[in-house]
Amino acid sequence: MEVIVAPGKVAACEIAARRIADTVREYPAAVLGLATGGTMVRVYRELVRLHRNKGLDFGGVTTFNLDEYIGLEPQSPHSYHTFMREHLFDQIDIDRNNTNIPDGMSPDICGSCAAYEKAIADAGGIDLQVLGLGANGHIGFNEPGSPLDSRTRMAVLTDETARDNARFFDGDETRVPRECITMGVSSIFEAKKILLVAYGEKKAAVVAAAVKGTVSVRVPASVLQKHSSATVVLDEAAASTIYRQNIKPI
Ligand code: F6R
Repeated sequence: MEVIVAPGKVAACEIAARRIADTVREYPAAVLGLATGGTMVRVYRELVRLHRNKGLDFGGVTTFNLDEYIGLEPQSPHSYHTFMREHLFDQIDIDRNNTNIPDGMSPDICGSCAAYEKAIADAGGIDLQVLGLGANGHIGFNEPGSPLDSRTRMAVLTDETARDNARFFDGDETRVPRECITMGVSSIFEAKKILLVAYGEKKAAVVAAAVKGTVSVRVPASVLQKHSSATVVLDEAAASTIYRQNIKPI
């Protein structure tokens, strides 16, 4: 696992965006796995800047998002469909037909999860999977306890995640849907490369558990330690517990 520590959150997001841009430049038909959430806002802002100012071309790129809430229309201001349109897709030259987000309104959730897995396989698999990190160690919506061999499926948010995500629902935790579709831990792990981004002191303890702790379903992100090409980009605050653990008592 490669760990990069940037001097601040802006620098961390710039480094992450540059890694994504490198993949797109190297493989113009790259398949990207994408995340949503606060961390990604800055990463996507930088990608949009690279598109506008540096000609980064998304015309041949295909994307698969990690997750979506069940019961939210794609047009809902709170859906991840809307998040992706606003923060990335509306601002770059990607072909909308090549963007994929789980369908939280499907009348056949199991069938649509299986179809999502098939679509990823048909696209040749994910070249680069971008991840944020939940305060409880989740990746996608794979909450602690999610089986390491899990695939795209319906899952249930923990109380902690619902509380964390209330900030996207006008601070009202009761409005956060508890059910979602998420790519599984195993579906994520199959990506050729993985790039996890985390910043801020609030993430420091879970970052240490993910990067240095025992690989366990209790911290789903810890599985990334076993991946052959996983990079973690942090700011100094998010890396602070790792540093502290390295300090030997006198
Ligand atoms: C969202 C997702 C989640 C977030 C995680 C961190 O698509 O996959 O795992 O990446 O909850 O969210 P933020 O960046 O808001 O702290």
